Amino acid sequence: MNAIVAVDRNWAIGKDGDQFVYLSRDLHNFKTVTMGHPVILGRRTLATFPGGRPLKGRRNLVLSRDPDFRPEGAEVFRDLDSLLAAAPEDAFVIGGGSVYEALLPHCDTVYVTKLQGEWPADTWFPRLDRLPGWALTSTSAPMEEKGVRFTFDVYRREAGQ
Ligand SMILES: NC(=O)c1ccc[n+]([C@@H]2O[C@H](COP(=O)([O-])OP(=O)(O)OC[C@H]3O[C@@H](n4cnc5c(N)ncnc54)[C@H](OP(=O)(O)O)[C@@H]3O)[C@@H](O)[C@H]2O)c1
Repeated sequence: MNAIVAVDRNWAIGKDGDQFVYLSRDLHNFKTVTMGHPVILGRRTLATFPGGRPLKGRRNLVLSRDPDFRPEGAEVFRDLDSLLAAAPEDAFVIGGGSVYEALLPHCDTVYVTKLQGEWPADTWFPRLDRLPGWALTSTSAPMEEKGVRFTFDVYRREAGQ
C-alpha cells in the first residue's frame, strides 16, 4: 500500500478541516500518481473535495463509523479490518491525519510534497524523517508556486522493516 501527502516543514497537513494551500503542480502530481488506483480516505477528507464528491477514475474507499453515511460513488467501511480486507496492494492512502496514522504500518512507499513553510495546524503526518525504518529515496528539483517553494519527495520502508 502507498500514501500520498503534502506536509509543511513540521509535517503538518491541515487546519480546521482544510489544507494550507492548493498548488496546481501538486494537484496535477496527485492526479498523475493516483489515477487508476484505489484511494483510501477518511470521511472528513472526503468532505473537503468539491461538492463532497469522490474522486473520478479511482475506487474511493472511505472510512466512517456513521451507519447513515452513504456517499454516492464511494465504498464505505466502518472499521479498519473490513477496509484492509477489501483494499488492493496498489491502493493509495490520501488522508487525513487519522487515516494516515492508522494505515502507515501497512504502507511501503509514501509520496510527500514537502512545502518549505510553516502554517498554524491541528493535523500532522507521522515524521518519516525521524521514524526508524523509513528512508528518503528521491527528491525532485525545487519548484515554486504562489510564493511557496516545494519538492516532490519519496520515502520508502527499508528492507526488513
Ligand atoms: N496535506 C494533505 O496532503 C492532506 C490530505 C488529506 C487531508 N488533509 C487534511 O487532514 C485533515 C483531516 O484529517 P482528520 O484526521 O481530521 O480526518 P480524516 O482522517 O479525513 O477523517 C476522519 C474520519 O474518518 C473516519 N475514520 C477514521 N478512522 C476510522 C476507523 N478506524 N474506522 C472507521 N472510521 C474511521 C471517521 O469518520 P466518522 O466521523 O464519520 O465516523 C473520522 O471522523 C483536514 O485538515 C484535511 O485538509 C491533508
